[in-house]
Amino acid sequence: MNWSDGYVSDAEYTSHYYAELAPPHLDFAALAAGVMPPDRSGGRFRYCELGCGNGMSTTILAASNPDAEFVGIDFMPVHIANSRKAARRGGLTNVQFRELSFADACREDLGQFDYIVAHGVYSWITPENRAEMVDFYRKFLAPGGLVYLSYNTYPGWLGISPVQKIVSEIARTRHGRSTERALAGFDFAARLLKSKAATLELYPGARQQIETARNWPANYLAQEYLNEAWYPLYVTEVMRELAPAKLEYVASATLAENDLRLVVSDELAATIREQPTEELRQLVKDISMNARFRRDVYTRGGRRLSGLDQRQLLAERHVALTRAPEAITYRVEHLGRSLNFDTPHAHAVVEALAGGPAPLGRLAAACAGAPDPLSAALEAAQVLFISNQALPVDEPRLTPAQMNEALTSAALEDSACNAVASALGTGVPVTPLEMALLSVPGSLGSLETAAEALRDIANRKGRVFHRAGKRIEGEEALAAFLTEEVGATLRNRVPAFRKLGLLPPVLPEA
Ligand SMILES: C[S@@+](CC[C@H](N)C(=O)[O-])C[C@H]1O[C@@H](n2cnc3c(N)ncnc32)[C@H](O)[C@@H]1O
Repeated sequence: MNWSDGYVSDAEYTSHYYAELAPPHLDFAALAAGVMPPDRSGGRFRYCELGCGNGMSTTILAASNPDAEFVGIDFMPVHIANSRKAARRGGLTNVQFRELSFADACREDLGQFDYIVAHGVYSWITPENRAEMVDFYRKFLAPGGLVYLSYNTYPGWLGISPVQKIVSEIARTRHGRSTERALAGFDFAARLLKSKAATLELYPGARQQIETARNWPANYLAQEYLNEAWYPLYVTEVMRELAPAKLEYVASATLAENDLRLVVSDELAATIREQPTEELRQLVKDISMNARFRRDVYTRGGRRLSGLDQRQLLAERHVALTRAPEAITYRVEHLGRSLNFDTPHAHAVVEALAGGPAPLGRLAAACAGAPDPLSAALEAAQVLFISNQALPVDEPRLTPAQMNEALTSAALEDSACNAVASALGTGVPVTPLEMALLSVPGSLGSLETAAEALRDIANRKGRVFHRAGKRIEGEEALAAFLTEEVGATLRNRVPAFRKLGLLPPVLPEA
């Protein structure tokens, strides 16, 4: 194998921010599971991302946490070059991007980190490189530190395994860039499916994967399917691999998956709960929900909190709405299951958040009539997080203006990111259209000026608008589209952006 150990190294990865990697999010997952998160007093902590790709998550988090220190590690020079460019454009001085393999990184003197995160890496590398990652945790994770590790998991990938096999084997026989070879592999798989190849007919996951392949960016398909190392892992295998680094499972960073009501039936939830070990509970859960991807949080010796300590620490955590209070929907959908939380306490929590981010303790005061006000506020906050209508955040500091100017100036370009930085310790995910509107705050006073500004940006960048995959043609249709989309953003999101400090507040008229 070459320097990349069979990793696809001729296709750049997408530039995406992942909200689960934010320290306030990881801390919340840990605290809700009764584990003490790292000490971040004064905003000071150290954070490392392994396999950081184009560095968007680390860059946005560095901008959102100016007193913390960030290190991104990746062995692809193009990823490190892109990451450094993003950090330079954001004027960041608290982040370094290092071109290192995991094996080389283990030999460096990097000091100890409070957080080590790796998204979309662990199941795409060889067992030897997985062992290097574990060694990295052993050497560089501070006692009490948290690890975020995501990976493709079984049983969910069992049905897709034959698709990966045929796509990657066909791609090996073709010439050209990995993106073209991946598409050739999928075309071949589609032909097999059309001719009713028995294996592909047998597994619903296989059919769906082949039929939706063309909806994904080709560089994602290359990275996902063509790596020589392709190892979905059962959760119990991962737990055992991490044990030598003294890592213990804490919770899922996909908060919905810690709430069994949202992932399985009551009967299965009871079976999961009665398992005697965490290993078995997680495995039975994965089999019950046919899990395909896990985002796990682990701790290295994080203190298990008493109920009282846990409540006190939770009460200090802040919550911020990401939509206007009037636009909140009181129902969560996850994996085809739905949970109604249209309760007086949920409404009271939303009302208490209307003025801006607030600590859970204050939200509990709004639920004073409940038998346990803090639990009622926590439950409401959790469902708001799960439904992407709120974020766990820190107390406000200063908004990272230069970073956000750099991010919004790329709005509607191919390389545009999907989040902006905040003064609250976390990035805030936004849609492409919202990113474009954030670049012209002066135009947001009325629907007409905002729609016109958006049209200008789209024209300047040569972008056309689509709805449900179809291009919007003609002046009338475009005007209707802009009125609708911009109107919804102005009503539902812009007020929340102001409270999040992403836009200046509207001053009351004198
Ligand atoms: C699928 S990408 C995920 C990138 C990023 N974390 C994200 O989710 O957008 C995996 C990344 O890990 C890097 N990588 C894979 N094996 C590596 C190794 N042995 N040492 C360092 N980086 C590695 C790749 O270059 C790639 O950027």
